[in-house]
Amino acid sequence: MKGIVLAGGTGSRLYPITISVNKHLLPIYDKPMIFYPISVLLLAGIKEILIITTKQDRKLFYDLLGNGDYLGCRFEYGIQEEPNGIGEAFIIGEKFIGDEDVMLILGDNIIYGSGLTSILSLNSGNCAKIFPITVNNPERFGVVEYDNNGEIASIEEKPKRPKSNFAIPGIYCYPNDVIEISKKIKPSDRGEIEITSINNYYLKEKRIIATNLPRGITWLDTGTPESLADAIEFVKVIEKRTSKKIACLEEVAYIRGYISKKKANQACYRYGNSSYADYISKIQ
Ligand code: G1P
Repeated sequence: MKGIVLAGGTGSRLYPITISVNKHLLPIYDKPMIFYPISVLLLAGIKEILIITTKQDRKLFYDLLGNGDYLGCRFEYGIQEEPNGIGEAFIIGEKFIGDEDVMLILGDNIIYGSGLTSILSLNSGNCAKIFPITVNNPERFGVVEYDNNGEIASIEEKPKRPKSNFAIPGIYCYPNDVIEISKKIKPSDRGEIEITSINNYYLKEKRIIATNLPRGITWLDTGTPESLADAIEFVKVIEKRTSKKIACLEEVAYIRGYISKKKANQACYRYGNSSYADYISKIQ
């Protein structure tokens, strides 16, 4: 399974913060936002990751994350020239994905909690997979409706009148044919290959599985100043209280067995005299 992190876009809901800074590089407490989605892919067992961003920001991401070698991983970089929608990720990533399945995560989604690894690693055969979770503002997201048998009845993008409070977080798993399906999808009125259109394609073919994220898992989106501030506060509170970092890439890579403890400890040289460097040097 290959992984893609989508970190392009204009981030216009966060202007003026993101006029000249890529949203996915903004700090979420003690580390850049993109560390969080990358850590989720690493936890899911994925070591080959394509980071898709804009032409002007590519170098910034490379400077931050490099080729992934220090994590026992391989990072590649792709360019999304225009904001043509989430679905374009599979077209941009066609060569990178090759003949494998793919997990896509949006670069501004933070997902945290116990049991995540096993939920994300469930095998779904030839089906797409989404991971709905209840929220109090479903109209902001893709929304899934279930019928009385618990089967998916509909999937809608930002409906004015949501049929349920199950939002679809920005993490999705697809079989390899998502590449060809994305090419067939007609762009929406706003000119985007919507991820919801791709999910509806699979729904029509009865090839999509929804696994609801349980209570122990928190999903934070960081699309508005308020949700960004909430995410920072959340990470700060958990990290201070538990003395464990969320989304420490070197720690996750060590736990998943991609690198040795020694290699994890040694990676601290990348991070100056920060608390992150100190934490890594002490991974046990
Ligand atoms: C996108 C998707 C939406 C999904 C959300 C998750 O919306 O279109 O279906 O629920 O990400 O973060 P965006 O927030 O990029 O407008």
